[in-house]
Amino acid sequence: MAKLHPDLKNKEFWYKDITLIPNRLPDFERDEVDLTTHFTKRVILKTPFISAPMDTVTEAEMAILMALMGGIGIIHYNFSTIDEQIKEVEKVKRFEAGFVFNPVVLSSQNTIKDVYNIADKYGFFSVPITEDGTLNSKLVGIVTHRNVRYRKDMETKLKTVMTPRERLIVAQKSETVDKNDLYFANEILRKNNLDTLPIIDEGNKIVALVTDSDMKKNEQFPLATKNENKQLRVFIAVESRLELAKERIKKGYDAGVDGIVIDASVVFREQLEIAKWTKENFPKLDVVLGNIGSAEMVRKIIDAGFDYCDALKVGIGPGAACITQQELGTGRAQASAVWDCTQETKKLEPKYGFLPIIADGGIRIADTIEQDMAKPGDITKALALGAQTVMMGSLFAGLDESPGQKEFDYEENRMVKKYRGMGSIEAMEKRGALRYGIEKMKIRIPEGKVIKVPYRGSGYDFIPQLIAGVKQSLQKQGFKNIKELQQEADIRPI
Ligand code: XMP
Repeated sequence: MAKLHPDLKNKEFWYKDITLIPNRLPDFERDEVDLTTHFTKRVILKTPFISAPMDTVTEAEMAILMALMGGIGIIHYNFSTIDEQIKEVEKVKRFEAGFVFNPVVLSSQNTIKDVYNIADKYGFFSVPITEDGTLNSKLVGIVTHRNVRYRKDMETKLKTVMTPRERLIVAQKSETVDKNDLYFANEILRKNNLDTLPIIDEGNKIVALVTDSDMKKNEQFPLATKNENKQLRVFIAVESRLELAKERIKKGYDAGVDGIVIDASVVFREQLEIAKWTKENFPKLDVVLGNIGSAEMVRKIIDAGFDYCDALKVGIGPGAACITQQELGTGRAQASAVWDCTQETKKLEPKYGFLPIIADGGIRIADTIEQDMAKPGDITKALALGAQTVMMGSLFAGLDESPGQKEFDYEENRMVKKYRGMGSIEAMEKRGALRYGIEKMKIRIPEGKVIKVPYRGSGYDFIPQLIAGVKQSLQKQGFKNIKELQQEADIRPI
């Protein structure tokens, strides 16, 4: 177990109050460090990063980025309707799949405009054309980007632009899907220089698609977090109100979501009922409960429902846009909260089993807005204190992949993006108030604020740097993986 200096025992401390002392003589390179970890009891990640369920942080684009980089994104619930949230899940699920089952199809009577609408909604152009525009009729052709890219006449029927069935190269379901042989399908794509390979059954009905862009993505993102069907994994945030959550969970399940985060500023009793209901009705879904901040809370949740809970999220008021601690005088210094909670899960492990902890919030973005530096060291500290993964909001809100536009800030003289706490008055105008259990109250005390964060450009450049930073930090201490760090870290006060 990591060593916590005696001066830190029974003290409240933040990440900035501690340092990790290197005691080993490292004899390996930074890139040999392996950051594989558990997000939940079942979901394993190669990168311990989670993007927060906040409306200025995680929608489909961010969730796709996170999953491709080996982490995972949690889609927020601050939309006007449940369906809007579910659409984001669908985008993630359709983004990359070995076999794309239930592909979107059209009929030959649809128009080029319909193809562009699909591209806008889901981000792809390849659409099989069937006799009646449903999956239940025969394949009559396909439209890919090549068929429409130079066409300006949006009302033209697909009949005149599609590649017809007789000119299509297809693969049989019995030779690919039934044998789960993606390699064979990819070989056909490669040999014939195709964009898309339709997979059909004996009745000439479309069963699945394999696309060339998927193949490229597989090669480009070796860390990607995927399910058995090679789809990117994604979780959704769910409110702590059983009746509301039921519909969201059902719809999320149908859209292929991998799990839920029952997200509230502090675990409400009702969360345990939601967790139980979810496990009874959808045992395949993983359930994360949060937030908590002390060993006592860990114990209460584990005693009440270890089997309903696949991970616990720690963090009461440490976030960059949080004002809970200042306003309400309650909350906890994040580093000591993480230590306290992870010690308790470890203590209870022999009796109940393993339960991962997510350290949520408080990873510093920079000391001042002028500084662009992210602080990978804070992430390593959270892991050393026993967290399996780290959830971040403000650090990711400045990326291209977060919702919202970047803008020039004349006061700061630089590009910024807006980042808002879900308990800010602005966010509570939608569903944010549910997170604080005050959606029915006339008087709403804000627990969050709106801030500006430095614009950081593309996450596809930024996240690899952050991963390298965490690896470098482990390597400096001579640890090859998170387990070694957690067993031997030497944590001292600064
Ligand atoms: P960071 O520090 O990464 O924190 O920006 C992200 C986490 O902050 C939490 N969160 C809030 N906490 N009031 C709070 O007290 C809020 O309005 C608020 N909004 C988000 C949340 O746990 C998130 O993951």
